Amino acid sequence: MRVLIVGSGGREHALAWAIAASPLCDALFCAPGNPGIAEEASCVPIAATDSDGILALCRRERIDFVVIGPEAPLVAGLADRLEAAGVGAFGPSAAAAALEGSKGFTKDLCAKYGIPTAAYGRFRDADSAKDFVRRRGAPIVVKADGLAAGKGVTVALTVEEAFAAIDSALTLRRFGAAGAELVIEEFLEGEEASFFALLDGSHALPLATAQDHKRVGDGDTGPNTGGMGAYSPAPCLTPALECEVMERIITPTMRGMAAEGRSFKGVLYAGLMLTATGPKLIEFNVRFGDPECQVLLPRLKSDLLPALVAARDGVLDGFDLRWRDDAALCVVLAAKGYPDEPVKGTEITGLAEAALDPAVKIFHAGTKRDGARLLADGGRVLNIVALGSDIAAARDKAYAAIDRIRWPGGFCRRDIGWRAIGRR
Ligand code: AMP
Ligand code: GLY
Repeated sequence: MRVLIVGSGGREHALAWAIAASPLCDALFCAPGNPGIAEEASCVPIAATDSDGILALCRRERIDFVVIGPEAPLVAGLADRLEAAGVGAFGPSAAAAALEGSKGFTKDLCAKYGIPTAAYGRFRDADSAKDFVRRRGAPIVVKADGLAAGKGVTVALTVEEAFAAIDSALTLRRFGAAGAELVIEEFLEGEEASFFALLDGSHALPLATAQDHKRVGDGDTGPNTGGMGAYSPAPCLTPALECEVMERIITPTMRGMAAEGRSFKGVLYAGLMLTATGPKLIEFNVRFGDPECQVLLPRLKSDLLPALVAARDGVLDGFDLRWRDDAALCVVLAAKGYPDEPVKGTEITGLAEAALDPAVKIFHAGTKRDGARLLADGGRVLNIVALGSDIAAARDKAYAAIDRIRWPGGFCRRDIGWRAIGRR
């Protein structure tokens, strides 16, 4: 099978690493990829959102199967386009990707099918949005409806903060069309965790759980980021809670989507709040998480590729995946200045020494080559992943590897895993 991965981050490097190891994979390409992915696949400089370019590449290289990493091409309909051209695609149709592309759509689906989530309202005009906030009081959460590169959510601790978020989206159009509609919802209290499942339209196969660290600084301080680290499994998501999430959130969503004529195939990533009254949905994503994927895949003992193909073919029923007992933990190395203005172009050395421990895997997220030199080329630059008998052991190995990397232009959080390790 000739496979193409679409994307260029640490998530796609982890996917490339797993898929390249599959005996079913005869040739592996990535568009556009990165220098780490280039060790596993032939990288072709075509942007993930360039659907014409991707389609032409599929024809030229006789690609059988495309694995789409990020949300933007999914929401824009890349899977539909590929399928219409006779190329198998892993990832939901545009109609099904609305679960990530429109928060309002997802909230209405939850309301219609009884899926537990925060109480909410949808608004296009600032006055009625503010009335709602006045009636509900703070804390309250204001969300841009569409894709806003992770910046569309304001957890407002005061009514004034919520008003400012409403004005910024609806009046000043800070998020453009993505923020022309808002979802305003109840503030949920509890611990956050993520749950991943593979869906083939009518069957759901649970994958694994994870937790990430969104704030840039130690102790969960500073601005939000795409994620500074993650670990799997999430100890707070007990097997009993996992069953509850499958029964009350994943399965009804899959059935509801099928009933709406938006049958979902791909990875469904549920961001959850474990509240006093049970798990509630914060949001769905329609793809693997980044950096959550980097901790899920090293724990997978089974071949990933046939599972992705089965999801696409609608034959997941009876499919079984085996997982290691080991935990995995990922620390993100970011360029100084991230998330606001990461400094690009600084040199990184020592990766070979860092990767000597067989329990350690380094995934590239934002790097580029300059001859033999490896340079930072983004905000989140490298993902250092380690397996261990528990989360603390994985953490110790990941940080031991990081201490061998020489990169004065970078930084990382030093406390990844604290919540899970503190719990023991
Ligand atoms: P998102 O960008 O949708 O992942 O949301 C960013 C973060 O906002 C989440 O990870 C939560 O920490 C927080 N958040 C979103 N919705 C709520 C809610 N209803 N209650 C409390 N926190 C929330
Ligand atoms: N790590 C969060 C995300 O992938 O959306």
